[in-house]
Amino acid sequence: MGKGNLLMDVKNVSVTFGTGASAVEAVKNCSIKVHEGEPIGIVGESGSGKSTLARAMAGLQQPSAGEILFRGESIFKGNKSYQNGNRNQVQMVFQDPYGSLNPQLTGLSAVAESVRIHKKVGRDESEENALKLLQRMGISKIDALKKPRQLSGGQRQRVSVARALSASPSLLLADEPTSAIDQSAQAQLLKLFHGLLDDNFSIVLVSHDLGVIRYLTKRVYVMKDGVFVESGDTESVFNDPQEDYTKLLLASIPGELGKAARAKLARS
Ligand SMILES: Nc1ncnc2c1ncn2[C@@H]1O[C@H](COP(=O)(O)OP(=O)(O)OP(=O)(O)O)[C@@H](O)[C@H]1O
Ligand SMILES: [Mg+2]
Repeated sequence: MGKGNLLMDVKNVSVTFGTGASAVEAVKNCSIKVHEGEPIGIVGESGSGKSTLARAMAGLQQPSAGEILFRGESIFKGNKSYQNGNRNQVQMVFQDPYGSLNPQLTGLSAVAESVRIHKKVGRDESEENALKLLQRMGISKIDALKKPRQLSGGQRQRVSVARALSASPSLLLADEPTSAIDQSAQAQLLKLFHGLLDDNFSIVLVSHDLGVIRYLTKRVYVMKDGVFVESGDTESVFNDPQEDYTKLLLASIPGELGKAARAKLARS
């Protein structure tokens, strides 16, 4: 893994909201290279710019500076993004799946609709496909027939993941996909992501949960106030963090995982 072709090249991207005195520079001069088959993590405290950067990578937020290439082509052309058949190849799971799911559609209909669009199959086949995908996410047939407001937060998250995967993307941008689900469902989802990783599937996982990042990713970017303060091989960053901010983040993980970092912090 990590030796595949360059899939996405985020080059010196900045995103500014507003103008003048009220301007917020949410992302400042960030660069990431995503290779085929590579799982990448972005961590950082609340408000550090993670979702904004992920939305830019999904083509939903125009950078104010820099550029984003997907398979060598800029994803933004004028004010449009992903115009050349690459749209399906990059899928995003949103931090708040409520806003991204159609309130009128059951989970099954939402995923089946996506299967129909992406796989060009008929109604029965798309529903069969959709149900399989949902069941892999731990969504029962009964829950698959519910509308978003009738589902729990975690179930909505899993429906969103199923819908994103139904497009068979090469790159999944997952923004806190496990934040609303319990430990066992989280483990199940992470295992599933892990199983999907191959030469044709990469993931950029945004999470404030460092355990999740360590389990799934090979490279990690640590974000603070819109800037990458540290990046590198995930194991190296966890075992030997260089920046004080990363040390603090790691030391805040409860239990065994944060123990070494706490000891290290105490010594420094
Ligand atoms: N549409 C917007 N308009 C103005 N400011 C915004 C907008 N979206 C985000 N911001 C600001 O940009 C900064 C980064 O927000 P972002 O949502 O990217 O953070 P985050 O790292 O994803 O945080 P969290 O962990 O809480 O999800 C914040 O200061 C936020 O208030
Ligand atoms: Mg966010």
